[in-house]
Amino acid sequence: MSDAKDQNTISPVVAHPTRREFIHLTAGAMGAVGLGAAAWPFINSMNPSADVMALSSIEIDISGIQKGQTHTVMWRGRPVFVRHRTEEEIKEMRSTPLKALPDPETDEHRTKDPNWLVVVGVCTHLGCIPTQRKAMQSSTDQDIGWVCACHGSKYDYSGRIISGPAPRNLEVPVYEFINPNAVLRIG
Ligand code: FES
Repeated sequence: MSDAKDQNTISPVVAHPTRREFIHLTAGAMGAVGLGAAAWPFINSMNPSADVMALSSIEIDISGIQKGQTHTVMWRGRPVFVRHRTEEEIKEMRSTPLKALPDPETDEHRTKDPNWLVVVGVCTHLGCIPTQRKAMQSSTDQDIGWVCACHGSKYDYSGRIISGPAPRNLEVPVYEFINPNAVLRIG
């Protein structure tokens, strides 16, 4: 015979894993840690390396580029033309009728400072590198833009396509003048 106190007593139930369950749990946890450790080099390899990060933007000294000169720099594996334009070039680029252009864009829209043109030197047709173009009839033999030797696309000194099979103007990269007429950052 048991008393009332004994009948109301509830024994706490504590779940103890069996030895087999314990081994499985431990193995599972170790497997998850091992998988993470094995995956880390792969995940880490997707981060850009230090040298790639360093090339994502470049700063160049433009103080020595004279009016009428183009300086070419490499940025992210592509040439970038930095042209110090003459007053005549600026005037001509700003007065070109847009309807005469296959890819109409104003010169004001493509330049941050009218004295400087900054464009990626890769033809928008099939990716050749255009070269400086000479005026055909000019006694001064001055440059008047770029021509792509691959299929004859011609670009003006705003980097706009004016004739040939290229469908678009030369790309204007992200850039800013850190110091006007002295330091330019591309990227
Ligand atoms: S790649 Fe420049 S015209 Fe074809």
